[in-house]
Amino acid sequence: MIKNKHILIGVSGSIAAYKIPLLVRLLKKSGAEVKVVLTPSAKDFVTPVTLSTLSENPVYSDFVLNDEGEWSNHVDLALWADLILIAPASANTLAKMEQGICDNLLLAIYLSAKSPIAIAPAMDLDMYKHETTQQHLKKLSHRGHLIIPVNSGFLASGLEGEGRMAEPQEIYHFIESYFSENLPFNGLKALVTAGPTHEAIDPVRFIGNHSSGKMGIALAIALSEKGAEVTLVKGPMALDVYQLNHDYNINVIDVVSSDEMFIEVIKYWETSDIAIMAAAVADYKPKNIAQEKIKKLETDFTLALVKTKDILKSMGETKKLNQYLVGFALETENELANAKSKLNRKNLDAIVLNSMKDEGAGFGFDTNKVTIINKDTTKVNLPLLTKSETAKEIVNYISQQFFKK
Ligand code: CTP
Repeated sequence: MIKNKHILIGVSGSIAAYKIPLLVRLLKKSGAEVKVVLTPSAKDFVTPVTLSTLSENPVYSDFVLNDEGEWSNHVDLALWADLILIAPASANTLAKMEQGICDNLLLAIYLSAKSPIAIAPAMDLDMYKHETTQQHLKKLSHRGHLIIPVNSGFLASGLEGEGRMAEPQEIYHFIESYFSENLPFNGLKALVTAGPTHEAIDPVRFIGNHSSGKMGIALAIALSEKGAEVTLVKGPMALDVYQLNHDYNINVIDVVSSDEMFIEVIKYWETSDIAIMAAAVADYKPKNIAQEKIKKLETDFTLALVKTKDILKSMGETKKLNQYLVGFALETENELANAKSKLNRKNLDAIVLNSMKDEGAGFGFDTNKVTIINKDTTKVNLPLLTKSETAKEIVNYISQQFFKK
């Protein structure tokens, strides 16, 4: 959930600053973008070089960057952040934040911030307990800022008590749960299908198609990033899906044929809130599967095919009021009209029309160009985007529509 999030850490002058490099490392390991701002006195406790190396970004401290008059744009830095974390927040910095005093870059960023603010205080126990510090914390909390509780223990002064900054792991978990609690699909279950199906002809041959599964995988990731608990039913594909399980906790179910996909999808559909059917399911399968390899004949050979079960249509037939169902359509003629008729026939909430005509769109490519058609016939034309960007746009669209239902 922290992946790709922009986290700006403001470090003020406290011995606890020595823990910040570890926090930067944890955040970077999770895929976050991190920028660090030091107050002038923080530089006595932790070096900019350490933090810039770990964050892979310059460390900011002064309003003016060099003799040429280049400056650190506090407004840009503030707007860049999805979350501003002040850690350690010394008694002095807390007091200035509360009062709106702006005598260093970090405080200017704070006053320009539009993002949420989290504060991890760190100070000696008497300073922490002091009435003014407690009042400042209370007021900052009333302002909507998140206060990361201090720990009790040995303090740099040699005293023991409350005032120790939370450990880097604790701050990391705080940030992680902050981002996951605010996701729109938290507590919702989503089902996605991806890839082709293989319809066996005999033990060594099948009917298949060129679907790579990339679009379905990108959709599963985009739904998971919005907080949904995702099940991905996928046909045979070459793509490595290790990261789906490992990084995103997506429940991956492998199937081969349309019949197998039907069984798994119907099982999970019952309890799903959202389903996106991106799989290119075969429309026909061999009437009989030969038990032994079919031998070459002297004559031509005709293979009898029967229709497969239309999985999406069955889902549409059992769709409950609060379920949101999205299909895909691949059309080569009368694109819009055919897609709209498919949407109605299968009782969908929306259909994603894949363009085969645009360069860079369709099977195998890393890019796609789609139109989302709503059941009220309004449509959204997306430009040519990577499949991952397309998936994010589709999922954003679903999140707007789903909560209107
Ligand atoms: N689909 C399905 N089960 C099938 C066939 C398709 O669930 N047996 C789903 C696909 O996952 C996709 C949508 O239905 O979401 C595509 O609809 P379909 O009518 O199969 O479209 P095309 O494959 O484009 O077929 P045609 O245009 O030939 O009707």
